[in-house]
Amino acid sequence: MSNLVGADRESDQAALRAIIEVHRAMPGAMLPLLHAIQGQMGWVPAEVVPLISDALNVSRAEVQGVLDFYHDFRRAPAGRHVLQICRAESCQAMGSYRLEAQARDILGINFHQTTPDGALTLEPVYCLGNCACSPAIRIDDAIYGRMDPATLDALIGDLRDAQAPA
Ligand code: FES
Repeated sequence: MSNLVGADRESDQAALRAIIEVHRAMPGAMLPLLHAIQGQMGWVPAEVVPLISDALNVSRAEVQGVLDFYHDFRRAPAGRHVLQICRAESCQAMGSYRLEAQARDILGINFHQTTPDGALTLEPVYCLGNCACSPAIRIDDAIYGRMDPATLDALIGDLRDAQAPA
């Protein structure tokens, strides 16, 4: 992942241009292109808007509109860990809204925000394919089912402890 600052900036720019070049001729290139950028960079920097606009011959407003519509695209680098709470129907029915409130309370942040120490980003997600074990959450690449407040509390505590300075 990269944050487009400092010494990495030039190589990041080159990487962005390479991704755009690979995707620009595809039919319906916009979404695959944005996903590829997020896949490589970990987020979608604002500076890609004019680059994509030029490459795909669409307006900047159109690119921005797609970014605004799909909440999966991060506008800033994620924290060292990402906690996603499923907000789709099955998990909502099984009380995931309580987990959302709990996570917001513990972390002091809202969805799409990162704790000030950069440890953890909180995101909504709409079905993790684990509906039979609702409510479900994901921490980085690991999915947890039948989540309850005590377990969530412990998982968040572990993540925070792991990030505490030595
Ligand atoms: S609805 Fe939450 S995992 Fe499917």
